[in-house]
Amino acid sequence: MTAKPKVWIARPLFPEVLARLAQHFDIEAEALDRPHDATELKQKLAGVDGAIVGLSDRVDASVLEGNTRLKVVANLGVGHNNLDLDALTRAGVLASNTPDVLNESVADFAWALMLAAARRIGAAERWLRAGHWPGSNMRFDDWMGLDLHGRTLGILGMGRIGQGVARRASGFDMRVLYHNRSRLPELVERECRATLVDKPELLRQADFLVLVLPFTAANRHAIGAPELAQMKPSAVLVNIARGGIVDDASLAAALREGRLAAAGLDVFEGEPQVHPDLLALDNVVLSPHIASASAQTRRAMANLAADNVIAALGQGEVAGKPPTPLNPAVLHHRTAGKA
Ligand code: DGY
Repeated sequence: MTAKPKVWIARPLFPEVLARLAQHFDIEAEALDRPHDATELKQKLAGVDGAIVGLSDRVDASVLEGNTRLKVVANLGVGHNNLDLDALTRAGVLASNTPDVLNESVADFAWALMLAAARRIGAAERWLRAGHWPGSNMRFDDWMGLDLHGRTLGILGMGRIGQGVARRASGFDMRVLYHNRSRLPELVERECRATLVDKPELLRQADFLVLVLPFTAANRHAIGAPELAQMKPSAVLVNIARGGIVDDASLAAALREGRLAAAGLDVFEGEPQVHPDLLALDNVVLSPHIASASAQTRRAMANLAADNVIAALGQGEVAGKPPTPLNPAVLHHRTAGKA
């Protein structure tokens, strides 16, 4: 009997997904969520045919060097700035991500942060839990926040998640402006009730600015001190995209000095570290990169990562047809000895 291909799973996954994988593979599944440094990643990947990795696992040329066995790396996330796609392609390793299955949950979460930041829910809850609520003596003008309804929502990055954020705005009777590399088809603009504007216009007009950009070198600090200076002091900034798109130190200064009203952040530069100036502020709602973390969506992401590995390693009915490849050219040009 030929040995099953070996697959390493870098983060704890749902038992039913592990059971699916175990039908096809000899699996090694990590029991703890923790980052793996380059040395450990290199060593783990050297001994397997496939891997499912998390966003903190950086797979680059140094990690792949000398690896002649690995055929697929499936990322547990749609963002894939932790994967060096050129290096993976050169090494003949297929990479995949988990697009689409998380769009609606992440769009929901953008609204959770907008509402929480505008209506000061985090700070109010901390105040209540600390026993400060004086009951009926609470001042009539305490805890006043900002309305969302009737305001202008700006979306920077209008892919499928951005469009989901926009569609939800009609329930709040908001005007929607967006800025994107390319204009959306007219039909989609109509469905989203969204109007394309240039970036300075978006910054100037938005009462709520939601960032849904992929993280690339060009997008680093897409929102920094100069951009924050163009925004309304009454505006709310929401980042559900990636840390590093916002200059967190400049953002903290703007929030502290009243140049921006509030922010809702799910992602941070250098996470899991959070800039200490942000931690010290009450007008920012912070969450630990959980925008896609609904029970249904995290299961769908895990299953999609598993589908990619199963297909890429030639197993099951989908053999040879990974559903969401990032570098599909690898499928056609498997290097000699790795096909
Ligand atoms: C992604 O999929 O890129 C998200 O950030 C993970 O939650």
